[in-house]
Amino acid sequence: MIIKSNEQVSIPRHVCIVMDGNGRWAKKRSMPRTYGHRKGVETTRKAIEFFARAGVRHLTLFAFSSENWNRPQEEVGLLMDLFLQSLKKNSAELHEKDIRIRFIGDREAFSQTLQKQISESEQLTAKNQLMTLNVAANYGGQWDILNAVKSLAEKLASNDLGIDQVDRSELESGLSLSDSPDPDLFIRTGGEQRISNFMLWQLAYAELYFTEVLWPDFSAQEMQLALDTYARRQRRYGKTAEQIDKEC
Ligand code: IPE
Ligand code: IPE
Ligand code: MG
Repeated sequence: MIIKSNEQVSIPRHVCIVMDGNGRWAKKRSMPRTYGHRKGVETTRKAIEFFARAGVRHLTLFAFSSENWNRPQEEVGLLMDLFLQSLKKNSAELHEKDIRIRFIGDREAFSQTLQKQISESEQLTAKNQLMTLNVAANYGGQWDILNAVKSLAEKLASNDLGIDQVDRSELESGLSLSDSPDPDLFIRTGGEQRISNFMLWQLAYAELYFTEVLWPDFSAQEMQLALDTYARRQRRYGKTAEQIDKEC
């Protein structure tokens, strides 16, 4: 991006992405949906590299929703195989690039082999600093909020917490990614303009960016376009534009 002198470059601290459109990408080529998922893995690798280089500190990718179990068994099976293979293949490279990988979502539904690989990849990269990559797998925003509510309820029931002490930060401490800033930029490829039960609580003030481009076609140029669009937005958090201008 060419930066004009009066333009502030604003890199989001946290980007989250709904990587959508693999199935339609394959269908357009008269190929099975699974072909689109394989192609999508390549885009995922490029996106990790792109956003790390751009200076984004937290990247959260929606890989498999809690509702995706309702897909045909064959497709679910292939997706699980792809997770396992990609983790096996790419964990060392992530580690070399100083990227920490973490999974959010209910991992107990995964096979023992996949759970073991997830833990190994997390442990290998746990101390890395450049960027944290969160993979949302068997994740749902409502599940996340419910877990936080349950842990609050437990603290209340055991009198570790009084009802007057329940505030936003108490609830947030029970959410996935409670140690990360909320997403600044939400990207969804594939043309649908919906959240699909992604990070419902954490997206409260995220800038939303929707593109028609299908995930396997989401190029570095398209990624840059999302960042440029974000940099031009004015985040007001309820204030007026004039107030924000004065603060800058
Ligand atoms: C996103 O692509 C990948 C997953 C949900 C795992 P889709 O598989 O949803 O692709 P479309 O929306 O059918 O094109
Ligand atoms: C959302 O995509 C989940 C992921 C990208 C992993 P879907 O394709 O499952 O979303 P819907 O069903 O169209 O809302
Ligand atoms: Mg889809």
